[in-house]
Amino acid sequence: MYVEKSKVESIQKISENIFLIKVLAPSIASLVKPGQFCNIKVSENSFPLLRRPFSICDVEGDYLFFLFDIHGEGTKLISKKKPGEFLELLGPLGKGFNYNDGYDTAVIVAGGLGVAPFPLLSKNLSANKKVISLLGGRSKKNIVTYGLKNVLAATDDGSEGFHGTVVELLKREIKNISKDNFRIFACGPTPMLKALQKYCVENNYDCQISVECAMACGFGICQGCPIDPVNGDSYLLVCKDGPVFDAKSIKL
Ligand SMILES: Cc1cc2nc3c(=O)[nH]c(=O)nc-3n(C[C@H](O)[C@H](O)[C@H](O)COP(=O)(O)OP(=O)(O)OC[C@H]3O[C@@H](n4cnc5c(N)ncnc54)[C@H](O)[C@@H]3O)c2cc1C
Ligand code: FES
Repeated sequence: MYVEKSKVESIQKISENIFLIKVLAPSIASLVKPGQFCNIKVSENSFPLLRRPFSICDVEGDYLFFLFDIHGEGTKLISKKKPGEFLELLGPLGKGFNYNDGYDTAVIVAGGLGVAPFPLLSKNLSANKKVISLLGGRSKKNIVTYGLKNVLAATDDGSEGFHGTVVELLKREIKNISKDNFRIFACGPTPMLKALQKYCVENNYDCQISVECAMACGFGICQGCPIDPVNGDSYLLVCKDGPVFDAKSIKL
């Protein structure tokens, strides 16, 4: 884990409220695994005090990419960064996806900005794996396909692709998908992950989910990100034990 003062190389608005930022962070870039995140200090003064967690979206050489939308003050400040300015990154943090063995088809299921960790995962999957990317959003402008392969979209308002949720789209596609040995990799809002978890547990599907919650330290010190395991008394920490968990192992 490094603290790295990272120069902004570029920042690109890719949709109404969605940005892709590229920063120079050679130490962190040398260690990243798909599904890990950085805790980012968004300004050079003391406001906002806490770092903000973001999935590492992609790595190109010494550069990291983050995909984000504007939620509140922290993300608004990042969106105003100019090339040549700095962000302070702490990372790489957390455990990433287990993506190497035991399946033939990777099924990515993402809701909204839950797509963020998947360009890097897609890039790292071995060439003999098939990839299907199922993306859900409120409408067409919330569907971000950057760095993803073989995309099928689902929108709540029907403005693109399947009219319904991404979990309903998965249920529609499962007949084709399950002809191969598959593993689901998912990230998105908690209600979506809950629906997916229920479906996968009921059907005994192999599924890893990346969970979001509010965080402070990002590396297991403050105990501010607890999540209950299905088995065991003691809570787990999303930042240190996750953010990726087997869908069968945690209570959402
Ligand atoms: C491991 C992890 C990876 C993440 N990766 C990304 C990413 O790649 N791209 C991205 O855009 N966002 C990501 N997030 C969410 C991101 O951290 C928050 O959007 C960000 O901290 C908001 O900061 P802010 O100062 O703009 O908003 P704040 O002022 O902190 O919050 C504004 C509003 O957003 C809500 N909010 C804040 N944090 C979260 C959260 N984690 N989940 C749900 N609601 C929240 C608050 O309750 C409040 O209503 C990730 C979160 C985690 C835990
Ligand atoms: S954010 Fe501090 S322990 Fe997880």
